[in-house]
Amino acid sequence: MNVLLRRHEHHTDKIPDGSAVSLDPIDSILWAHIFLMIIAFGIIFPTGMVLGLTKSRMHVPTQVFGTVIAVVAFFLAHAHKGRQFTPDHIHAKFVIYVVLIMAAQVGLGVYLRLHLKRGYQALLRPKIVRVHGVLGKMIPVVAWVQMLFGGITALGFCRSDHLGQCLAHFIMGSSFIAYGMIVLIMLYLGQPWLRRINKSQEFLDSAVITAWGIVNTFTEHRWGNNWSHKDFQHTAMGIIWWCAGILGLLLSKRNGRPSRNLIPAVVIFLTGWAMSGHAQALMLSTKVHATFGYTLMSAGIVRIIEISFVLRDGSGEGEVKTFQHLTPYLLIASGYCFMGANEEQLLLVASLNVDHVSYLLCLYSIAFLTYAYVFSLIVLYTKSGKNATPGKNSDLQVNGNGLARDHEPFREETENRGTAAAQEFELLALIESDEEGTDARSVDEYK
Ligand code: HEM
Ligand code: HEM
Repeated sequence: MNVLLRRHEHHTDKIPDGSAVSLDPIDSILWAHIFLMIIAFGIIFPTGMVLGLTKSRMHVPTQVFGTVIAVVAFFLAHAHKGRQFTPDHIHAKFVIYVVLIMAAQVGLGVYLRLHLKRGYQALLRPKIVRVHGVLGKMIPVVAWVQMLFGGITALGFCRSDHLGQCLAHFIMGSSFIAYGMIVLIMLYLGQPWLRRINKSQEFLDSAVITAWGIVNTFTEHRWGNNWSHKDFQHTAMGIIWWCAGILGLLLSKRNGRPSRNLIPAVVIFLTGWAMSGHAQALMLSTKVHATFGYTLMSAGIVRIIEISFVLRDGSGEGEVKTFQHLTPYLLIASGYCFMGANEEQLLLVASLNVDHVSYLLCLYSIAFLTYAYVFSLIVLYTKSGKNATPGKNSDLQVNGNGLARDHEPFREETENRGTAAAQEFELLALIESDEEGTDARSVDEYK
């Protein structure tokens, strides 16, 4: 134990000049660190987060289990030999935020678990639930960042000259993946919320596109310097985004009602088209960029078909159609292609003699797994905790989209009558009970 607790010294004697890592292989202790952290932060905590949102009694055991694994993996990270790393890497710098959030989360969680509700505690507790809830939802995002930082640290990527394009690929790639996940979650769980804020999905999409476009219009060129070919391309991308976004915002409310529109889909298509023509120094890189572009273009086309011909401009309430799964999948796949098109990564792939076909199939596979995982979490959400108890009658109504347990009479009714008054009533009842906070209910569920 002593060995594990002692902060390890950072040996750097074997690192070649101009490189961030030595040529030694990653040893088994570091592999164990990587593996256990991916299990804890990538799988257990997000699953536990969903169980927290549904107030399942499995929440606390799941998160305690994840915490134990993360603590073990934390000590392993300080005990490895094998490959050496320059000590000032981002994975070591960012970890303090991960640790702080985790420590707060466990502390607040223990407090909540004690169920103190007398006197001033009655006022304090709901605030603590809220903070614990917000931090809890931040953890998957922070963990994603820390895991990516781990990956680039392990390979010695993204140093000096490479930093700019690294940032571009990882930020934009992660954004497309996140967008795909959000589209998928909205399909199943977002309808009641959209109805409450009285907006269409395209209003939200267009708002983000506009904001992002404005940022990119001013940040993709270093002002005062000469304009390079890349600066033109990236700035033009920013301009088209806000121009399109404004139209998307306007079209998303017509006749006083939230309306679907095709502008975000067209923007996705055009972005894909721009990327597919992005010529690169390396043949492999050009091909990966092209496939990335085609994937994104397909996502745009599929979205147009979905909105116009599958949903016929409808909001998508009712059972989710099979076809609707294509858009989020393609968005996630294009995100991985984008991240995988990072130049150092491609050099490594080329040096291993892997061609673009095998590499892209590999990226597509990761996208399938990610999709399966997010979809499972959605199913878990609709079937665990407060959404599981038939007596509370809150299973199907959570989503209104037919994922939850058998509820045939209700489903038939909604299919026959579209947005039936009955469904509306039940959805509203559920939203209200959600808003009131389920504090009282959680008391017995956590016992
Ligand atoms: C390991 C120690 C933890 C304990 C003992 C714990 C305990 C609890 C308890 C008792 C609640 C129910 C609060 C209520 O009465 O409504 C809760 C809710 C929740 N927890 Fe945890 N928790 C822990 C860790 C975590 C972690 C690591 C995450 C995130 C990854 C998390 C995410 C959540 C979320 C999202 C909620 C729902 C909050 C809401 O209703 O808005 N918890 N937790
Ligand atoms: C969210 C999950 C993770 C956390 C909280 C975490 C935390 C840590 C910590 C605290 C260290 C020690 C840093 C130091 O030496 O000062 C470390 C080292 C390391 N981690 Fe992670 N890690 C995580 C995930 C990963 C993943 C997914 C990978 C690889 C894919 C990875 C790769 C590494 C490597 C290569 C080192 C050695 C760096 C060195 O010795 O200087 N980590 N990690």
